Amino acid sequence: MKINSITNNKNCINPAFGTTNRAVQNKAGNLIYRNTTTFFRSDLDWDKLCYYIRDKYKNADKVNLFCQACSDGSEPMSIAILLKEKFGCGARKFFPIIAKDVDSLMIKRAKSEFVEMDHFDIRVINKFTDNKIKYYFGLPRNVIGFRLVPATINPWFHKKIKYSVADIKEDYKNIKPDNTILFCRNFWPYLLDDAARIDLINNIKSKFNKNCAIVIGSFDNQDISMHNMLLDAGFKEAEYLTNVYEIG
Ligand SMILES: C[S@@+](CC[C@H](N)C(=O)[O-])C[C@H]1O[C@@H](n2cnc3c(N)ncnc32)[C@H](O)[C@@H]1O
Repeated sequence: MKINSITNNKNCINPAFGTTNRAVQNKAGNLIYRNTTTFFRSDLDWDKLCYYIRDKYKNADKVNLFCQACSDGSEPMSIAILLKEKFGCGARKFFPIIAKDVDSLMIKRAKSEFVEMDHFDIRVINKFTDNKIKYYFGLPRNVIGFRLVPATINPWFHKKIKYSVADIKEDYKNIKPDNTILFCRNFWPYLLDDAARIDLINNIKSKFNKNCAIVIGSFDNQDISMHNMLLDAGFKEAEYLTNVYEIG
C-alpha cells in the first residue's frame, strides 16, 4: 500500500479542502480512498441542519450521533461546535459523538492535541462561532504568513467526541436503533461497487428503528447516485435539506 503525504490542496479552485487531503493507494497505484476533509464542509447547510436536529429530537432525552468516515476529526469537531453554539447546555443529550474511520492514521491525528488549519478553516469556524475560534482552538499569535496553521485542540473536544478505528461495513452493527443520526459522508464511492453500497444501506436500514436519519455528502451523489439508492431502499429526503435522508 502506498500512502501519499498529508498535504493541503492549495491548487484547488474552490478552497473547500483545508484540513487534510491525503490519498491512499494500493501497490498497483490505484486509489483506495482519500481522507479529504475540512471544517464545516460546504456541501451541507449547517444552520438548517441544526434546526432540523432540534425539531426532530425535541422530545428525545438522548440522541445518538455517529460520524463514520470521520477522517482527521474536522467533521465531528464541526458538529460538536455547532451543537454547543446553538444549544448550549441543551447540547448535552447529543454527546458523546461516536466518530470512527477505517484509517488508523486519521484516528491518531483526530485523537491528538493538534490540527492543521488553513485560513479558510479559520474563517469558517469564526463564522459559525461568532468569532470565538479561540474558545475551541489555540492559534499561534500571528497566523499571517502561515500556509497551514498549527492549532491546538481544546481538550473539551476529547470529552465530547469518542474516536476509534472501524470499518463501517462491519461496524454498522453497533448503530443504535432509535433517535440516531448517522453521518457517513463523502466515502460511498470508495466502496467496491453498487452491490456493496446497496448491501451496506440495507444493513444500516436493518439497524434503524425509530426516528433515524443518515447524512451523506455531495461527493456521494456526484459519481454514484446515492440519492436514488437511498430512495430505493426506503429512505426519504428530509424536507428543505439536501444530503439528509430519514427513515422510521
Ligand atoms: C473523503 S473522506 C470524508 C471525510 C468526511 N466525512 C468529510 O465528508 O469531510 C473519506 C473517509 O472515508 C474513510 N473510509 C473509507 N472507507 C471506509 C470504510 N469502509 N469505513 C470507514 N471509513 C472509511 C477514509 O479513511 C476517509 O477518511
